Amino acid sequence: MQWMDSFEWRYACKKMNGQSVPQEKIDSILQAIRLAPTSMGLQPFTVLVITDLELRKKIQPVAFNQSQITDSSHLLVFAAWSSITEDKIREYVANAAHIRNTTTEALKGLSDMLTGALLHQSDEQNFNWAARQAYIALGFGLAAAAMVQVDATPMEGFQPGKLDELLELPAKGLRSVSMLALGYRDAENDWLVNLAKVRRQPEQLFIHY
Ligand SMILES: Cc1cc2nc3c(=O)[nH]c(=O)nc-3n(C[C@H](O)[C@H](O)[C@H](O)COP(=O)(O)O)c2cc1C
Repeated sequence: MQWMDSFEWRYACKKMNGQSVPQEKIDSILQAIRLAPTSMGLQPFTVLVITDLELRKKIQPVAFNQSQITDSSHLLVFAAWSSITEDKIREYVANAAHIRNTTTEALKGLSDMLTGALLHQSDEQNFNWAARQAYIALGFGLAAAAMVQVDATPMEGFQPGKLDELLELPAKGLRSVSMLALGYRDAENDWLVNLAKVRRQPEQLFIHY
């Protein structure tokens, strides 16, 4: 499939059939998420990859009982950092220095930029910024799933506070922002599968100069 065909094929799956997604496809979706760009490269989020059915059964009631929570093969939870600390910036700069075979001193400009941009902001401001970065990764994951013919449902329909409590995210310095259920469509029982996509017209969506 060409990428455009994949994007036409994909839809927000409402009913999945419980079939498992092969590990290599999951790995390619996770790699796409990992390769997503983020502002200043910080990747201020963590993605929880949940296959445990018992845990997904506990998540379902805090996600309006959506069936994809348990009928999917893998449930990804995108959780943004609840605060950004000097330690996190130091860790990022050390990793960049290691990967690029340089020193942290040589990356002082990067470190100063991150510190200047983020450390004077409130935790809430930084969390909102981190959540926006997590959404870019969600988009990459969605697109990659379509390209490897895995069905997906992006999800905001859950109670973040309750999910955070259930997954003990506060202790990890995280707050949930979105989820991505990955699996295969149950075409016979999914009301959305054959409906045309609703999209604004290009002339409404784009302004050309
Ligand atoms: C961030 C985000 C959150 C969404 N939350 C839910 C959700 O909780 N449950 C659901 O069934 N669909 C959810 N959707 C699916 C959208 O309703 C759907 O993507 C949109 O109507 C466009 O349709 P399509 O994805 O089938 O092309 C969400 C989509 C996005 C991007």
